[in-house]
Amino acid sequence: MMFKTIWFRLMHRYSGVSKQRSVVRLSSSAAEGAVAPPADCSVTAEQAVRLWARHFTLHGISEPLLSSQYIISHVLGEKTLERVSRKRLRDTLTDREIERVWKLCSKRLTRMPVQYVIEEWDFRDLTLKMKRPVFIPRPETEELVSLVLEDLQLIQGESHRTDLRGLEVGCGSGAISLSLLRSIPQLRVFALDQSQTAVCLTTENANRLGLQDRLDVHHLDVIKDADAILSKCDLVDFIVSNPPYLLSQDMKTLQTEIFRFEDHAALDGGLDGLSVIRSILGLGSKLLKKRGRIYLEVAPCHPPVIQQLIEDMMPGLLYLETHCDLTNRPRFCILQKKGEND
Ligand SMILES: C[S@@+](CC[C@H](N)C(=O)[O-])C[C@H]1O[C@@H](n2cnc3c(N)ncnc32)[C@H](O)[C@@H]1O
Repeated sequence: MMFKTIWFRLMHRYSGVSKQRSVVRLSSSAAEGAVAPPADCSVTAEQAVRLWARHFTLHGISEPLLSSQYIISHVLGEKTLERVSRKRLRDTLTDREIERVWKLCSKRLTRMPVQYVIEEWDFRDLTLKMKRPVFIPRPETEELVSLVLEDLQLIQGESHRTDLRGLEVGCGSGAISLSLLRSIPQLRVFALDQSQTAVCLTTENANRLGLQDRLDVHHLDVIKDADAILSKCDLVDFIVSNPPYLLSQDMKTLQTEIFRFEDHAALDGGLDGLSVIRSILGLGSKLLKKRGRIYLEVAPCHPPVIQQLIEDMMPGLLYLETHCDLTNRPRFCILQKKGEND
């Protein structure tokens, strides 16, 4: 590849950085992500954090300081900078470390989300491998998992069940299924996703966490493959999903990081944001055991629409509750398959 080299005189801005050559070398296009480390430059971790935070700011990268901190602590083998010793922060980085910092920060310069840059992210108590373009799990989904766990524990307490079966539609990196499996030893999950990359990533994460024996992962599309799902999956106690729920018209308002790097099929829920949700509800009527539940993460506009949909078109289901997220927006729906006396 041919790069026109531009020299940014940056290092002089940072006091204490000894500089045989005070530059960060950039390719002609930051989008190509080719930033070479400065030759013969000695820089401590602390200085590198400040340098890259400033450089990210200059290039309009969101969360510049956090991005720099995450990447540099990752290179130093820790999750956060707070976990790196003071001494290590003040030591000069080795040539290899500088090379890695510059390589990873160059990726961030292309607006690649930091989670894809460092190829891992924490979700609840799990560290998951991340791979572009599989959806990066969000904090609200941790709330969905807590809601499901609290609800299942209540039901378990009443019924003393020794086995539980769940279905996750759209498993992505496996965040939801793997968190539930980690917390409930008697649970087995059938997880599916329309993306082969997501299926492989969930499988890889399950293997890393030693949860693969209770998880079946399938490359299936809930809209197109309903018959295959019904034939492969046993009746379940619950269905959980953080489906694509954005309205198609809102896709263009997404942050560049998301729009350019994450799978649009993970986000775009069609004209009304309900295309996948409708199929999940249809599946629920057939696959849930009596009184089995559906837990959905949705857009704030969706709960009343889903409630109406259930009342008008799905006589086998009951709309139980809407839950708000930590910012008090209605984001989670709980539905139930009717029992004999409902
Ligand atoms: C918002 S992401 C959620 C991923 C993961 N569950 C999480 O919370 O991090 C939605 C997921 O649904 C998958 N998906 C989208 N449409 C689907 C469909 N028709 N059938 C199955 N999976 C689908 C996407 O590939 C994506 O992995």
